[in-house]
Amino acid sequence: PVRPVLPPDIRARKGGAPLVVLTAYSTPVARLVDAHCDIALVGDSVGMVIHGMSSTLGVTLEMMILHGRAVVRGCTKAMPVIDMPFGSYEEGPQQAFRNASRLMAETGAPAVKLEGGVQMAETIAFLTARGVPVMAHVGLTPQAVNTLGGYKVVGRDAEAEKVMADAKAVEAAGAFAVVLEKVPAGLAGRITRELSIPTIGIGAGADCDGQVLVVDDMLGLFTEFRPKFVKRYAELGKAADEAIATYAAEVRGRAFPAAEHAFPDVVPVKT
Ligand code: KIV
Ligand code: NA
Repeated sequence: PVRPVLPPDIRARKGGAPLVVLTAYSTPVARLVDAHCDIALVGDSVGMVIHGMSSTLGVTLEMMILHGRAVVRGCTKAMPVIDMPFGSYEEGPQQAFRNASRLMAETGAPAVKLEGGVQMAETIAFLTARGVPVMAHVGLTPQAVNTLGGYKVVGRDAEAEKVMADAKAVEAAGAFAVVLEKVPAGLAGRITRELSIPTIGIGAGADCDGQVLVVDDMLGLFTEFRPKFVKRYAELGKAADEAIATYAAEVRGRAFPAAEHAFPDVVPVKT
C-alpha cells in the first residue's frame, strides 16, 4: 500500500520538484486529484464554487467537515488539507485549536490551512506545538475581502515588505508550507528564495515551490468567472451545457429513453 503524504514530506520538498495542488470538494473529484497531485485542498472556496455564495465569509465549520470527509475518502496518496473557515480561528489560539482539532478528528485530514501572517503567528505556533500541522496563506486573503477592499493584487510597492514579513512570520511560527495568493511574481520569487518552507502560488508567478488552482476554474466549469491567473485546461462547463441541452431535446422529442434503457416486462430467455 502507498504511504500517505504527510506535512513533513511536503516541507522536505522545498526547492525540489514543484508541488502540485488542486482544490477538491467531493469524493469523485478528490479521486482525480489524488491520482496526479501532491495535495488535495478542501478550500473554503467551496462556499463560492459549490454553494453559490458571493464570498467565503458564510462558510461554516460544518460545511468544511462535510466536504473534508468526502475528500478524505477519495485520497489514497495525496494529502488532504482543510481550510479553517472565517470566524473559526481568529479569536485566539484556544478557539483555533478547538476547531482545528475538530476538522482533523472528524475528517481524518492531517493538516489545516488558515489565512494570515504576522497576526496569526502566535496561533500557528500554538497549533503546531499541539499536533496540528498548519499551511499558512498570505498575500490576498479572501476572508479579509472587506478590509482589503476587493480581490486585488497584494504586495506592490511599499506593501511588498509587509507580505515578506507575513511569510517570514508564518515560517518562524512553524507552518509547513505557505500559500501566496495574488502577489507580484518578483516578490513571490524573493519570498520563495528567503523561506526554508515551500511556497505554493496562486496568481503568484512561476518562481514558487508549487502551484495551486481551484479545480472548477481550471476545468472551465464556470462561464463568467475568468481571473487572469487561471489557465483553463478544459471547458467542462461548455461540454455539460451541450449534454444537458441534448438530453432536454431528446426527452421533449421522446427520443430518450430508447428501448435499450428500459426494462422488458418478461425476463429475456438466454440462448
Ligand atoms: O479556498 C481556496 O480554494 C484556497 C486556494 C485558492 C488557495 O484557499
Ligand atoms: Na481558502
